[in-house]
Amino acid sequence: MRVVGSLRRVAAVAAATAVATTCTTAMAETRPGTAVFVPLLGGPQSWRFDQWKAITDAVRGGVSTARLVPSDSGAKFQGNLDPSKLKAGFAGVNLDVGELPRPLTDFVGLKLDVANSDGREYTVLLKVRGGEAGSSYQVRFTPEPNQSMEAPFATFAAFRRGRPDPSAPQLRAADVGTIAVQIASNFEEQSGDYELELRGISGLGGPEIHS
Ligand SMILES: *[C@@H]1O[C@H](CO)[C@@H](O)[C@H](O)[C@H]1NC(C)=O
Repeated sequence: MRVVGSLRRVAAVAAATAVATTCTTAMAETRPGTAVFVPLLGGPQSWRFDQWKAITDAVRGGVSTARLVPSDSGAKFQGNLDPSKLKAGFAGVNLDVGELPRPLTDFVGLKLDVANSDGREYTVLLKVRGGEAGSSYQVRFTPEPNQSMEAPFATFAAFRRGRPDPSAPQLRAADVGTIAVQIASNFEEQSGDYELELRGISGLGGPEIHS
């Protein structure tokens, strides 16, 4: 048993080291030697392009647009962010977590592999099943090309109607119904045509997770 355990540990370290060579900055704390990544979208897994839905400020009368389309590296999240009408805007694409090949409860977080970015700030959102329309848990990041970023679930911050919501309970992976990639104008700081190209999104596991 002891020997099998240590072999598994070596395999986990090797996997994490292979990933670490392409990793320049982490979205949050990294745990070298323990992290294991299981592809959920992109790479060996389908992006399920026809299952993503655009959710934008059009719900409030805005005119921003969003789509997720296939690209050479994987998927491009692109569109136009136009805060001029509402003095604030957002644009995103949402996927029901039921479309993922593994449940989020198998993991302690997510990893995003970015192929290219335009220098804008993007957000990964997790929405709780049955939660209020304006409530979500968010991690924001401004990626460089070829950057990989880890986002443990514990680092997702609760937001309600665009503001931090310290009264919200800690995020539980079991409660998540929707994963979204979004761009927000932050009032009028960001606008115009945007594009974030992703190679994939993986589940971030501890040493006990095997792909
Ligand atoms: C990103 O990686 C690709 C493929 O490895 C490489 O061709 C490209 O030059 C890299 N881009 C940057 C900005 O490092």
